[in-house]
Amino acid sequence: MNILLNNKIVPRESFTVDLEDRGFQFGDGIYEVIQIYDGVFFEWEAHLERLVRSAKELMLPLPAAINTLYQNLQLLVKDSKVTNGTVYIQVTRGTAPRFHAFPQKTEPTLVAYVREMERPLEQMRSGIKVVTAEDIRWLRVDIKSLNLLGNVLAKQKAVEQGGAEAILIRDGIVTEGSSSNLFSIKGKQCFTHPANHLILNGITRQVVLRLLKNTDLILQETPFTFDELLEMDEVFITNTGQEICPVIQVDEYKIGKGTPGVYTRLLQSAFEALLG
Ligand code: PDD
Repeated sequence: MNILLNNKIVPRESFTVDLEDRGFQFGDGIYEVIQIYDGVFFEWEAHLERLVRSAKELMLPLPAAINTLYQNLQLLVKDSKVTNGTVYIQVTRGTAPRFHAFPQKTEPTLVAYVREMERPLEQMRSGIKVVTAEDIRWLRVDIKSLNLLGNVLAKQKAVEQGGAEAILIRDGIVTEGSSSNLFSIKGKQCFTHPANHLILNGITRQVVLRLLKNTDLILQETPFTFDELLEMDEVFITNTGQEICPVIQVDEYKIGKGTPGVYTRLLQSAFEALLG
């Protein structure tokens, strides 16, 4: 497999992480995951804009202009011969003697690689069971940083309990999933946590907000509690890769009738139509 290393496509084997890479030692870096459908990036501009925002928030210089990065990513996909999958992009602050504050002189390291991935059609069709976990993450999860231990521990809990995702609860409020955003529907109201520092403003979430405009649902970007979640007619999660995935059970509680809801199905069809 070949990877993108800064501005060059090189064999995977030729890349090694330095002992004092700040991503490795401090999690001092950012990432993006973009879906490839039929060889084409889905919402690449929004993803790369978010990468720029994450970099800015962490005062992390990007090694290349976004247009150059985009061109290199296209070359990488072509080189990989993958038509359906994901590209993972990561930028760390680079290598310097270990000291918490930013080093004076260091070059950021960008790596990207492509993986073939099947769409999780069965989960999207039948829905998933999720497990709740306390949201113990730091207070800037709007930045797509490499600090994912809170997410890792929550997903591990879900997996151990037979769930496909962990839904995070902070002070009784449902924030998001361990690697997804969460929507819920009651009557004609569609709720999702506002895009502030307590959630990652997902690109799929933003697509769904656009799709909602073509339905009779009324968007409510307002926090809601775990107890309110259990009373919802429909719940679904969104992310790059899982797209719009119905949630049919939270812990031991069934959502609605315990089957994917009509609005979730409608939004899934509208999403599918975007893929051409
Ligand atoms: N994660 N919230 C969190 C905490 C996430 O990690 C993700 C995505 C999302 C959804 O964002 P988007 O729609 O842009 O994929 C929300 C990616 C897929 C990951 O970490 O692999």
